[in-house]
Amino acid sequence: MAGKIPAPFIDELLNRVDIVDLINSRLPLKKAGKDYQACCPFHDEKTPSFTVSREKQFFHCFGCGAHGSAIGFLMDYDQMEFVEAVEELAAREGLQVPREKGQKQGPDYRPLYATLEKAAQFYCSQLRTHPDSQRAIDYIEKRGLSGEILADFSIGFAPPGFHQLMDHAMGDADELKRLWVTGMTTESEGGRRYDRFRERIMFPIHNHRGDTIGFGGRLLGDGKPKYLNSPETPVFHKGRELYGLYEARKSVRQLERLLVVEGYMDVVTLAQFGIRNVVATLGTATTPDHLQRLFRTVPEVVFCFDGDRAGADAAWKALETALPLMRDGREARFLFLPQGEDPDSLIRKEGAEAFRQRIKSGAPLSRFLLDHLAIQCDTDSTEGRVRLAERAKPLLNQLPEGLFRKMMYRRLTERVGEQITGSSGTPSGKRMKVRPGTSLSTMPPVRRAIALLINNPACAQAANLPEEWKSLDLPGIPLLKELLELLQSQPNITTVALLERWRHRPEGKHLGRMAAAMLPLPDAGQEREFRDTLENLSSQSGNLEWEALVAKAAKAGLNEQEKRRLSELSKKKAKLSSAKVGMEKP
Ligand code: UTP
Ligand code: MN
Repeated sequence: MAGKIPAPFIDELLNRVDIVDLINSRLPLKKAGKDYQACCPFHDEKTPSFTVSREKQFFHCFGCGAHGSAIGFLMDYDQMEFVEAVEELAAREGLQVPREKGQKQGPDYRPLYATLEKAAQFYCSQLRTHPDSQRAIDYIEKRGLSGEILADFSIGFAPPGFHQLMDHAMGDADELKRLWVTGMTTESEGGRRYDRFRERIMFPIHNHRGDTIGFGGRLLGDGKPKYLNSPETPVFHKGRELYGLYEARKSVRQLERLLVVEGYMDVVTLAQFGIRNVVATLGTATTPDHLQRLFRTVPEVVFCFDGDRAGADAAWKALETALPLMRDGREARFLFLPQGEDPDSLIRKEGAEAFRQRIKSGAPLSRFLLDHLAIQCDTDSTEGRVRLAERAKPLLNQLPEGLFRKMMYRRLTERVGEQITGSSGTPSGKRMKVRPGTSLSTMPPVRRAIALLINNPACAQAANLPEEWKSLDLPGIPLLKELLELLQSQPNITTVALLERWRHRPEGKHLGRMAAAMLPLPDAGQEREFRDTLENLSSQSGNLEWEALVAKAAKAGLNEQEKRRLSELSKKKAKLSSAKVGMEKP
């Protein structure tokens, strides 16, 4: 696989091509003021509202909202992929597209995997050799786990004591650092490190390649927390990983379906009873990432839930997550266990055959969806059936186009007794209209600052911009900070180059719309406005800090440093309010 195209190359490419020449070679443009215009190629129109700015190297249609850089134009107009578009433009300029070196993008995590694997082996050996391991073995026997299944899942024992795993590193400073980075050690308030997992049965968690990426650890008896999991680390993300997936793929040659359960113990016990196609989420709800991963492995996913209220809620959430992924050929089913049972307890009671029958009889998504809504709607009455249709439609509209979606509409029609048809085409396919020259003054300040930066990156170059706003806990502040710092370190980045850097990030769309909306505004005065906006935000942050300090002074008193800070902030406040009063004078 080729490496990533370096961002600075894209900046340079966008500086070299001229978007007016490029578009004009495909679509004749007419000069209009300092910009160029044509009838929009992306929607039907009689009078031109498609505008190309040479200065901004940006196109924008006031009619349908289409907008973007030269790269974006080739992607939309010539239906190119991103990389193709970059290569096409580079070829026009006689440039070779460079690629970042190496197969792997991003850091090398192999040393972290090695550290975690070493920890897993340590825990396994402790189960055999540690003087206190008898208690662990007794517990494992009580839970009915066989020696074979312990080996299959590499289950081990974290011994009591605060530094057993750390001591195992034998003073190797790099290894100790990796134990910290991988969450295997934790820190006291005084900054002393110690083993996170102590006196617990240890379940190693593997990624799809079989690398150990984290652990779950269970107490030997009652107590809290019953299970302790690795925290989020560079190699472990709860929302993406599934316990047992690696083991399931290893032991079943041709996986056709996967059962999703809640607990580590459920996975291991079912496996011991011969049901090996089982995975567990790691104490979280099923995420879209989980489901993508599951459906990439098998066409059929069976969710298994407790028969109680919480189980029903969790099942409905899983259904909502699954809807957009239900392409034709995929199947999801829902299995509810008797109250008070989990797969581990149930299979021990009724045996593997009965449990297999349950899996087979799980409700298909279609039935679960309609039954669940029907219960809430009282479908004996006309009003109830209308309500059912109203509630079902937005859900069915999330299904991808295809046979399954059509069939669901047919089922709904049968239940409601009236023909119901789905809207075709997903709303995401439509473009947002943007009003030109969206008024800056009505935007909330963080948005305004971002809009100004995007539209006029030179704003970032002003000296002595205020800093206090950076500590505000508001949506958009991290993005504003990132944009500003990027522009300060690389002053040559243009609006379109910025947008390209954000192309593959969720905020990218908003940035593009802001750039489109601001296009006709004059640049003059924007730098002043940008500074004012940051100052305004900073005084907000000062106010919050001032209020917190005043409250603390009243309650607990302040130390010397805090007193100095309070007096500093009070002075600033006084200055600001006198400045405001001054401004109000004619
Ligand atoms: P359960 O409480 O249902 O545990 O939690 P269980 O799997 O039946 O475990 P046993 O049978 O008592 O040993 C289900 C899952 O929720 C997460 C774990 O992933 C667990 O397997 N969990 C639960 C935690 O992360 N922390 C906890 O304290 C409890
Ligand atoms: Mn259990």
